[in-house]
Amino acid sequence: MSEKQLVAETLVAVIGEHLSSDEILNLLEKPKTAQHGDIAFPAFALAKHLRKAPQVIAGEIVEQLPQKAFEKIEVVGPYINFFLKKDSVSEEILHEILEKGADYGNQMTGEGRNVPIDMSSPNIAKPISMGHLRSTVIGNALANIMAKIGYQPIKINHLGDWGTQFGKLIVAYKKWGSEEAVRENPIQELLNLYVRFHNEAETQPELEDEARQWFKKLEDDDAEALTLWAWFREESLKEFMHIYDMLDVHFDSFNGEAFYNDKMDAIIEELKEKHLLVESKGAMVVDLEKYGLNPALIQKSDGATLYITRDLAAAEYRHKTYDFAQSLYVVGNEQSMHFKQLKAVLEEMGHEWAKDIHHIPFGLITQGGKKLSTRKGKIVLLEEVLNEAIASAKEQIAAKNPDLENKDEIAHQVGVGAVVFHDLKNDRLNNFDFNLEEVVRFEGETGPYVQYTHARACSILRKANFEIDLDAALALNDADSWEVIKLLQAFKEAVTKAAAQYEPSVIAKHAIQLAQAFNKYYAHVRILEDNEEKQARLSLVKAVTIVLAEDLRLLGLKAPENM
Ligand code: ARG
Repeated sequence: MSEKQLVAETLVAVIGEHLSSDEILNLLEKPKTAQHGDIAFPAFALAKHLRKAPQVIAGEIVEQLPQKAFEKIEVVGPYINFFLKKDSVSEEILHEILEKGADYGNQMTGEGRNVPIDMSSPNIAKPISMGHLRSTVIGNALANIMAKIGYQPIKINHLGDWGTQFGKLIVAYKKWGSEEAVRENPIQELLNLYVRFHNEAETQPELEDEARQWFKKLEDDDAEALTLWAWFREESLKEFMHIYDMLDVHFDSFNGEAFYNDKMDAIIEELKEKHLLVESKGAMVVDLEKYGLNPALIQKSDGATLYITRDLAAAEYRHKTYDFAQSLYVVGNEQSMHFKQLKAVLEEMGHEWAKDIHHIPFGLITQGGKKLSTRKGKIVLLEEVLNEAIASAKEQIAAKNPDLENKDEIAHQVGVGAVVFHDLKNDRLNNFDFNLEEVVRFEGETGPYVQYTHARACSILRKANFEIDLDAALALNDADSWEVIKLLQAFKEAVTKAAAQYEPSVIAKHAIQLAQAFNKYYAHVRILEDNEEKQARLSLVKAVTIVLAEDLRLLGLKAPENM
């Protein structure tokens, strides 16, 4: 039974005729300061039932409550504040964490059901943008979090490997490109060709027609078009894989847009059969007026299909293949309209599972307050950012811990981790500014700070030759350890909340709070002092390493034991 449940059960015995224990559970709050106890019940929730001042109600209830399960129960204003018994709670929590290890906080909500997560999904022949980085790291963290509560995540990289841009690219390559240049520096060269196409097309509009024809050829399986396309795709993918390796993010599927080419006729047939396709200026659309949305353009007048057509095919394919509990799409906020349309069309088609499709939008990364853009060939290369972060981590580690053995490996874990953590610590919908110096700091609310705290805790345990002893007394009573204990316990709620809101920042914030509370503990308490509480104190340190490492793992960061 959780502590909140204990409070709810205690209260329901007295006020059960007005509120159920679930209702009470929902009303319980966590006081902002420790002076107000651990859990508070707002007595004004009963004002309309009892028609008395909340202060009076609070006083009357407390008189009837059995006190023995708590250290004390106090009335402050309209609140009833419950103070938990620190020693029994700490005993229980530490015992549970030491026993379960990394499994602490695991839940079975998902019952093993599949959750495909559409994530990263960069576009072939273009660099991975900071936006794709966000999708990659948010998607990866959500996959870990969903797995933690018992779902089976399936990480899908829905590569942008189809579309009219390939017609443009083929035209540009045939006119101005060379095999050598593409081999040497694929993405940069393909991007140059793409940019050149747009510049030249401004004065030579016939280029656009040529591009359309080449894309049509591609859709009709023309051998030359297909060979070029496959080559561009392969070269691009090589560069993407390099970045995924740096991030240590791996995918279960690379079925991108092209994968659905042979699955689109069926979609168009289905839409026709269900009388959903209407003609509009030669094109085929699905009317979505009753959803307050613009019509979804499904097929152009020349027969070419569109982004949304491929997404419809992908949605049906995922439903058929994975029988999903939920289907997630981690894609920037700017595509919200697209996903609203996608869901609405699926609903119109009568798919009741359309309700299980969730767009998980996120905000922009800016630099100096400005949006980063790839349009004009000006790109912020993700790989460069990661390398700079690694170099900065390396410098700091060399200064802090010159004798560290595997410096390069740790610098990689810290540098990359810093970028990932910085991305995940803010609510995902917020825009945020990217400033490398701030990202790789070892102090403040950063990834390196959490990793460093974890490593410091590990080093205490090494110094003490600590070993887990589940039979030892683990009760702790002091205020500093209590702050840590409460956060160790709050981990479970953080996982539940992060999953329910698809919000990895909940975990990142928990990690920062726990690291801060632990550092305070470390500063105030002589952990290694020999007395009867030593094993309990060290067990607390051990529990902190377990939970911090788990926070970091869920976010996709490593937790080095030494740094
Ligand atoms: N390739 C797209 C882009 O970079 C993102 C794809 C998102 N996934 C999807 N199923 N539409 O904008």
